[in-house]
Amino acid sequence: MDLAALERCIAEARPERVPFVLITVTNNSGGGQPVSMANLQGARAVCDRFGVPLLLDAARFAENAYFIKLREPAWADKTPREIARAMFALSDGAMMSMKKDAFGNIGGVISINSDGWAEKVRTALILTEGFITYGGLAGRDLEALAIGIDEILDEEYLKYRIASTAYVGHHLAAAGVPLLKPIGGHAVYLNGRKFCDHIPDEQLPGWALSVALYESIGVRACEIGNVMFGTQDATTGVWTWPALDLVRLAIPRRTYTQSHMDYVVEGIIELYGHRREIRGLRFARRPAVLPHFTATFEQV
Ligand SMILES: Cc1ncc(COP(=O)(O)O)c(C=O)c1O
Repeated sequence: MDLAALERCIAEARPERVPFVLITVTNNSGGGQPVSMANLQGARAVCDRFGVPLLLDAARFAENAYFIKLREPAWADKTPREIARAMFALSDGAMMSMKKDAFGNIGGVISINSDGWAEKVRTALILTEGFITYGGLAGRDLEALAIGIDEILDEEYLKYRIASTAYVGHHLAAAGVPLLKPIGGHAVYLNGRKFCDHIPDEQLPGWALSVALYESIGVRACEIGNVMFGTQDATTGVWTWPALDLVRLAIPRRTYTQSHMDYVVEGIIELYGHRREIRGLRFARRPAVLPHFTATFEQV
């Protein structure tokens, strides 16, 4: 979180109009990078100054905690569990997709340190998902989540997890494949614009790369770049593109073996050798809201 920008943003919007500040740990749209404890403490202080609640999107809280242990000397001797507790203690609540750092197939949690908000969430839950004891989930899924959220904090597992993501990233980088560094926790982020430097922004290089990955080696990736964040001026028609046009290679937990990762690395390096054959795309249909979920494309 850019603390100066946060402060400016709350002041300009007026604090009474800001229902909460949300920090995503780790940052899924910013390269899978962790949020430091120092930064969380800074955000807490800004929120306190304005009287605005601070919430965490905690989908990858354990990976974030492990990165804090690796990178912040003051936390080096703490366990991921202790660090996670300290992270949550800085917040007024958290929402979590349990499909990430709880190993779940389905499910999520909202926890809020406010009786008033909790009451509203419970009511909405009953209306939309199911009664508060199960929230629309099957009992077996609830049990899996209860075990998963505990197991994820095993330090040996987290070490393996972060190392296996880094393994993919470092091998790709060693072969000259352009990607975001440092390597993220749950994913390696290819630099679509540099990978496809023959494709102009208007032809969506990152998305074109994700299509080429699927066509050539059957690997499903996700663009986090021009399609997701590009905006077009309604009057001039001029596009503004985001600073980075990334392609996320997210690695599901406890799913793949070393051989799978080697296959991905070899396939991407081979594709990089043929990158000039990747063709640009144009929108066939672009919905005004959240275009990356339902837009369709055709090759140029
Ligand atoms: C950080 C983060 N928050 C929330 C979500 C949404 O999760 P769900 O699909 O469980 O609603 C995702 C990804 O799906 C995510 O990466």
